Amino acid sequence: MKVIAINGSPRKKWNTAQLLQQALKGAESVGAETEFINLYDLKYRGCISCFGCKRKDAVPCKCYIKDDLTSVLEKVHNAEALLLGSPIYFGDVTGQMRCFLERLSFPAMTYDDYGKQLYSGQINVAFFFTMNVDDEYAGMYKPVFENNTNLLKKFGGMTEYYLATDTLQFDDYSKFQTGQFDENAKRQRHEEQFPKDLQNAFEIGKRIAGK
Ligand SMILES: Cc1cc2nc3c(=O)[nH]c(=O)nc-3n(C[C@H](O)[C@H](O)[C@H](O)COP(=O)(O)O)c2cc1C
Repeated sequence: MKVIAINGSPRKKWNTAQLLQQALKGAESVGAETEFINLYDLKYRGCISCFGCKRKDAVPCKCYIKDDLTSVLEKVHNAEALLLGSPIYFGDVTGQMRCFLERLSFPAMTYDDYGKQLYSGQINVAFFFTMNVDDEYAGMYKPVFENNTNLLKKFGGMTEYYLATDTLQFDDYSKFQTGQFDENAKRQRHEEQFPKDLQNAFEIGKRIAGK
């Protein structure tokens, strides 16, 4: 069982990355072989509408752009489970995550038949979203969570998403313009809730790799 985690945050040690790392630990606890990929280390673009993937002789699911994402997409195609993570930026996933999703998802659909599944295997997916807003406000992003997660249904496996809300954004709030935030409340939330989020991520990784 191969499980790949894709970090769509530019920060390699913060909320999103930590959740993904815990999820990978969960997957490893049931024997999965794992890999962690930081999208912000790679040079690539989103879909450029070349339509290489829509040619009549196209290899199913293959993206014909050649850049740093080429080998990552191949690895994803050969994995049994995919753990995706993105902070919410201006109400959606980060730009790098969006570009990645375009490159992964567009080749996996055909204009001959939208309902057809081109990918012959099955990849289970868990998508972790982290954000500043609290649980109540996160409700307004529900279509965003669902739309991004549903893109991965083309890969035939189970899909689910997990929310880490009201996250800690800075080590030291006093150094930044953070008048909108109550540092003590943020820190207290981080100490009480984030360990639970990490534990939940571990369980998700374990479950998804155990399927
Ligand atoms: C450019 C930018 C835009 C953001 N936009 C939102 C937003 O629209 N809604 C929200 O709840 N949080 C927003 N945030 C906060 C991040 O989603 C949140 O801090 C997240 O947990 C960061 O993930 P990380 O710690 O893994 O980098 C934004 C942060 C940045 C840097």
